[in-house]
Amino acid sequence: PRPQSGAGDGAEKLLAPVLSAHWDDPRSWTLETYLRHDGYAGARKALAMPPDEVIAYIKDAGLRGRGGAGFPTGMKWQFIPQGDGKPHYLVVNADESEPGACKDIPLLFASPHTLIEGIVIACHAIRSERAFVYLRGEVVPVLRRLHEAVREAYAAGYLGKNVLGSGLDLELTVHAGAGAYICGEETALLDSLEGRRGQPRLRPPFPAVAGLYACPTVVNNVESIASVPAILHRGKEWFRSMGTEKCPGFTLYSLSGHVARPGQYEAPMGITLRQLLDMSGGIRPGHRLKFWTPGGSSSPMFTDEHLDVPLDFDSVAAAGSLLGTKSLQCFDETTCVVRAVTRWTEFYAHESCGKCTPCREGTYWLVQLLRDIEDGKGQRADLDKLADIADNINGKSFCALGDGAAAPILSSLQYFRAEYERHITGRGCPFDPAASTLWA
Ligand code: NAI
Ligand code: SF4
Repeated sequence: PRPQSGAGDGAEKLLAPVLSAHWDDPRSWTLETYLRHDGYAGARKALAMPPDEVIAYIKDAGLRGRGGAGFPTGMKWQFIPQGDGKPHYLVVNADESEPGACKDIPLLFASPHTLIEGIVIACHAIRSERAFVYLRGEVVPVLRRLHEAVREAYAAGYLGKNVLGSGLDLELTVHAGAGAYICGEETALLDSLEGRRGQPRLRPPFPAVAGLYACPTVVNNVESIASVPAILHRGKEWFRSMGTEKCPGFTLYSLSGHVARPGQYEAPMGITLRQLLDMSGGIRPGHRLKFWTPGGSSSPMFTDEHLDVPLDFDSVAAAGSLLGTKSLQCFDETTCVVRAVTRWTEFYAHESCGKCTPCREGTYWLVQLLRDIEDGKGQRADLDKLADIADNINGKSFCALGDGAAAPILSSLQYFRAEYERHITGRGCPFDPAASTLWA
């Protein structure tokens, strides 16, 4: 997966390959290749600055977290108390598991040193001597590549004692998770890293106050940390020259589904799906867009009415959804929306950690109702029941997984209630499963 261009009408000018600029180089993952492309220049600059200045620099650049919530990265770093006498930790969340999300894993596979350089800068800024990368355990080739990059970085003096002669001592541990979606939730991730069953903790206290081993901890997504070296190297003004005022910079958009050329498209924040489809060859030939997700399955779905919504955190929220992980899953008119929502809901029911009742019980009942509707055994009253259960999960669960499970149900009922009704009156699914390549 890599950024692609070749669209007409100047649309390709909107591509901004920074993170993905060297993904096509032979052996792009090695230190040697990374150094040929100004690798570790941002870290050298940052290590010569006082830590607080680095934090202020990232705050001024306006970088917002790329893991889904869009929380300002510099502000999160600033929350770490100073002079408290406790160890500080940086934990990189590489447990990418959101259905549709596939940006962090390609980034780590193609250029692990971008993340390691970002870790050096972030640890200097928050005065941490210990960092962890919590990687989704199933991606063994990425795990191997990351381990090799860490080994190279230690050998070259970018990690370990006295990093680049700056006085910073930094140990980095790569930890492989065991494949539970909930361990991408930051506090469940910390529990898992401490060796316990991963379940979300009550917040506050936020990890910035009491995180790993009850010490101040910054938990950042892979792409957030990987964006930092270029900001230091090329300047905050350069970063601010892209994107929108409240959401500056470049980012990775993952296009999947019924798209002619699916993959990673790196572009400024605020680009639209229409522009991204221009670059990716559009919806597969002979078909048209029916519905899509701006931020993976846990973001309320959009339809073709929303093609021109700028894809930045604020504009997507104003239009009624979430930019989240920027996972643009596109479905054409051959896709049964009830079937898609059933598959997602089965995922959430399976991954629910069981800690709180609305999510544990509610996702189970949502699946039963959806399967009945799909199998032609649904009743009209089931649609109100679906909405009622989803409403009782949304905003009433312990963590964001519950809200994520409710989002596809509530949004599909908003836009496609008639399609649910057709399943009930027609006693089954009116769609030909063979027509949609996604279910083949
Ligand atoms: P959140 O908005 O509660 O928190 C965002 C970050 O800001 C957290 O790191 C939190 O610790 C920090 N924070 C917020 N308020 C704070 C305060 N007052 N003091 C100190 N720190 C504070 O969002 P949450 O629940 O952490 O993440 C939800 C997002 O995760 C969703 O928007 C979703 O898109 C995304 N997500 C990503 C997945 C993936 O595979 N990357 C999977 C599922 C969801
Ligand atoms: Fe666990 Fe779901 Fe409750 Fe989150 S919302 S704590 S995943 S049961």
